[in-house]
Parts: sequence; C-alpha cells; structure tokens
Amino acid sequence: MKTKAIRNVSGAAMMSAVLAGGAHAEPTLEVLHYWTSGGESLAINVFADALNNAGGKWVDQPVAGGGGDAMNTVLRTRVIAGDPPGMTILKGPVVTEWANAGALADLENVAAAEKWDDILPPLLSDIVKVDGKYAAVPLDVHRVDWMWVNPEVLASVDGAVPTTWDEFNTLADKLLEAGITPLAHGGQPWQDATMFEVVALGLGGPDFFREALVDVNPDALRSDTMIAVFDQMRRMRGYVDDNFSGRDWNLATTMVMNGDAAMQIMGDWAKGEFLAANKTPGEDFICAPAPNKGGYILNSNSFAFFDDPNASDDAVAGRELMASLLLSEEAQIEFTLNKGSVPARLGVSREPYDICGVRSMDDIEATLASGTLVPSMAHEMATSSANRGAFLEIITEHFNSDMSSQEAVELLVEAIELAQ
Ligand code: GAL
Repeated sequence: MKTKAIRNVSGAAMMSAVLAGGAHAEPTLEVLHYWTSGGESLAINVFADALNNAGGKWVDQPVAGGGGDAMNTVLRTRVIAGDPPGMTILKGPVVTEWANAGALADLENVAAAEKWDDILPPLLSDIVKVDGKYAAVPLDVHRVDWMWVNPEVLASVDGAVPTTWDEFNTLADKLLEAGITPLAHGGQPWQDATMFEVVALGLGGPDFFREALVDVNPDALRSDTMIAVFDQMRRMRGYVDDNFSGRDWNLATTMVMNGDAAMQIMGDWAKGEFLAANKTPGEDFICAPAPNKGGYILNSNSFAFFDDPNASDDAVAGRELMASLLLSEEAQIEFTLNKGSVPARLGVSREPYDICGVRSMDDIEATLASGTLVPSMAHEMATSSANRGAFLEIITEHFNSDMSSQEAVELLVEAIELAQ
C-alpha cells in the first residue's frame, strides 16, 4: 500500500511542482511537527515516505510535546524571525489567525487540480477555508471523548465499562480500594483540558458545551453545570497516581496497556499507541466513548504551508508536491490507521478500520445529523488561541490546587474577559 501511495503522483501534481520550481527543482519541504510518540511517528512517516518516493526531500523538524503547545512556541519564534517552516500542523481557528496575518501559502492551484471540494466533506473544508480559499489541508478526524480501558484490570474488580459519571466514580472508588490506580493521566495543561472538556460534554451535553467552550458565554461559564464539571474534575484528581505531574500522554497510555492503571481519557491518537505495541482492540484494550448524553468531540488535524518570500524554487516545488499527495486515498488510509483517526477524505472504504474506527465513523454521521457534534476546545478547534489559553490556565490551576469550583468559575470568567 505504501508503494502505491507514493507512486500515485498525478500528472497535474508533477506538472505544477515542475512549473513552480523550474525543470531542475528538487522539491524540498521542511516540516515542523510534534508527532513524536510511537504511533504518531509511524503516521507522519507515511507522508515523509510519500514525498521522498515521489522525488521530493522531506526535512524533519520535530518538537517533542503532545498537543502541540511546545511546537507552537517554536513556530511563532521562527515566523517572527522571518524563518517559517515549509509545512506545519495548524488546526481550527488557528489556521484563520495565521491566514489573516498573511503568513500562509496559496493552495488554490493544487486544490483545483486535486478536486479537494469534491473529496472533502464541508464539515472539514469549512474549518480550513478562509474567505472561500483553502488555507490548510485537512488530514483526518480524531474523536476526543474516548475512554481507553484495560479489560483485565476491570475484571479484577468485577467492574463494567461505566456509562454515566456516577458509574465512573463508583468504579474508580472500587479500584482505589483494591489498590489500583483508576485513571492514567499526564498532568500537562492540554491533557487536563482534554479531561475537562470530556467531562463538560458528559455532564452538560452538547448545547452547554457549545455555549461554554465555543461561545464562551459568561452565564454558561459560571452556571451550576460548570460548577458540577469542576466538582467532577476534583474527584478525578483523586483518581490519578502520585506521579502524574508532567507525564507525557503516551506514557499514561502505556500505564493502561501494562495494567498499571485501569483507564485513560484521551483522544484516539491513544489507539495509535496500542496498535504500535501490537495490541488488539476489543481484546487487549477497550475503546468506549466516555459517559455522555449524546455527542462527539471533534479534532481534525490539518497541515498548512507557510509563505516565505525568500523561499527557494525547491521549497516552492516541495510544498506543491506534498500538498498534492496528502489526500490520496492510499496515503489517507495508511496515515489514519497508524494515527488512530479516520480519513478526512470522503468515500474511503471502511474495510481496513477496526471497531473503534468504525464506531467513530458511525458516530460522526449520527452526531452531525442530530447537531450534537462539537469542536474540541483543548485541541484548538473551538475558539481563539487566547480563549483556549485562558481555559488551560484555570483548569490546570484548579486541578493542581485545592481551589473551590466556585472560585474556579469566577477566575475562568475573568480570564476569558481578559482574553478578548
Ligand atoms: C492533538 C493532535 C493529535 C495528537 C495529540 C497528541 O492535539 O491533534 O494529532 O497526536 O495532540 O500529540
């Protein structure tokens, strides 16, 4: 499959790469990214192989740190210094922020040649289009609101996968009594925020989620529902082990894999880790949506290309060639199978996907139809970077102190006001 993806460069793509770069161009692309865990590396290498095998040269610039906050700091510094990378991971409203700053390359030629409007669902193309033009290329869809469960550990306390937060708490208390860490967690702001938004959807439902985490409506932010969300976060703090602070998300996944903890709440990039370790869903691990009253938290990765006025012909040719390869069916399948996500592209066969992937695909359709699909705040899909920063700050401060829920909502309203 890999070879096919690589060889499958359309004539149009080759032509535009050659035209852009001149006949002697060696298409070269410097890629700034944060996909450094086991599953993430396998996934991004699908694109690196595709470019290299199509005659290009992938120059890898990884910045460790899940969720991308460390990489985003490097990105800002480099852009300010006039040295932007060729391609990087940008998502949601952040794409619009960079596009409005005039920093991104025009992708209209490739989009037309590769017929992106025909092969992408509006759900995803709308996110990356600015003034009707593609500012980035959607790669996949991740679901954020998953629970990853070790079935053996669960069985050791006669537990069942919880379907409500009350059941979750009862199970977690039982695990604690048995001396088992209920929750594998990494204490980093984006991981705290991931858990927080999953609880917010679970306890508040999609309308509350939208009012509070997308529209940042102060009434929703200080509502009783938000107080209940912080109360639940306080309980969760009691379910993590003593060494959670600063732990990387993939190490938390390994804890579930090894039976050192029962569950992790994390998006399905965690599945990429289980699969990279040759674990089978439904046998070695269970994927179950975290308790909710309906809903799906969407996180879609996309790549954007920076417009460097000093870019060489090779660099321009590199970005055009890469852009033309990202949405090939073969690359989409191979990338998402390793990443734990499902394809951005429409019409891809479901056959290669496991039960978690198929469940995700079914639930996207159902929640889109019922209007209960919501964009992830923690993963940069819902709101401005400034608002997201305010959420992360207060959520983490609350999780790591004895702050009351009442105080947390007041501070959150203030922090959001300051972020406007
Ligand atoms: C998310 C990103 C995923 C992922 C994760 C952990 O924000 O969208 O692709 O791998 O962070 O690094």
